[in-house]
Amino acid sequence: MRAQVDQSGCIGCGLCVSTCPQVFALNSEHKAEAKAQPVPTQWEADVRQAAQSCPVDVIALLA
Ligand code: F3S
Repeated sequence: MRAQVDQSGCIGCGLCVSTCPQVFALNSEHKAEAKAQPVPTQWEADVRQAAQSCPVDVIALLA
């Protein structure tokens, strides 16, 4: 699985980072990025939850 953040829509709320800091981080512009690619298997559930919880729904999951 890969996770992709549409940074143009990210409002930097940080929820994905607090849900799965092993995969998501905020960059210097306060936009989230997925730093662990492909997502390690043990973090997939947390990444799915982060994607579902993002208030602006900008985290896409790719098989
Ligand atoms: Fe941005 Fe959504 Fe994460 S707004 S910081 S991608 S939870």
